[in-house]
Amino acid sequence: MFKTIILSGQAITPYLPQIAALRIEVFNEFPYLYEGTLEYEQHYLLRYINSERSVVVLITDNEKIVGASTALPLADEVQEFQQPFLQNNFDIQKVFYFGESVLQKHYRGLGLGKRFFAERERHARQIGKFDYLAFCAVDRPIDHPRRPAVYRPLNSFWQQQGFVFHPELHTTFIWKDSDEEQESPKPMSFWLKKLEST
Ligand SMILES: CC(C)(COP(=O)(O)OP(=O)(O)OC[C@H]1O[C@@H](n2cnc3c(N)ncnc32)[C@H](O)[C@@H]1OP(=O)(O)O)[C@@H](O)C(=O)NCCC(=O)NCCS
Repeated sequence: MFKTIILSGQAITPYLPQIAALRIEVFNEFPYLYEGTLEYEQHYLLRYINSERSVVVLITDNEKIVGASTALPLADEVQEFQQPFLQNNFDIQKVFYFGESVLQKHYRGLGLGKRFFAERERHARQIGKFDYLAFCAVDRPIDHPRRPAVYRPLNSFWQQQGFVFHPELHTTFIWKDSDEEQESPKPMSFWLKKLEST
């Protein structure tokens, strides 16, 4: 059976290599096409370890980690992710930012992605005082040469989870595609969910 492990801040540290390995494996696929390195991952994941209010949701199958999802207050994110909110007059203290959801292929379509969204929202509500949940996704052109013929965008999944596309909130984030010589900035746009009080 699948087990869910919920971690925050320093408690994430022992799991860093496994989360990094999952991210490198899954984000190598379209649309991210990311050629990850452990060095990049350590730098990236440190923000979750350094944030006392972060959350990492891990899914295990017979003790093996098969999926991971991350989130933290936008105030604890890097400037590239805060900037579009500041420019659009959001109070960044009121935004809880969802980092990523990565599941090994074999484990998709079983409801685990929905569990990632539900657990992260629960955490945001528990620590309180957030008006919005937010995440961003890479913008790849529809005719991107590496888009698989069978690729199914996640837009309807995100809408199902209550998120609305906000193209006016956009940024760039730097990584190296597996067919690039070096890192380059990638355009990213945000999705938001207003948190009504319960
Ligand atoms: C995103 C991801 C975590 C979703 O997890 P999942 O466990 O497959 O999703 P679930 O089974 O909980 O729910 C998927 C629901 O969305 C729908 N859906 C819409 N587009 C979809 C898509 N492209 N892929 C999967 N489901 C999709 C499914 O039909 C399903 O709805 P239903 O239950 O009404 O049938 C998983 O597909 C993944 O790891 N993808 C690769 C990494 C990625 O792109 N992550 C997002 C950016 S961080």
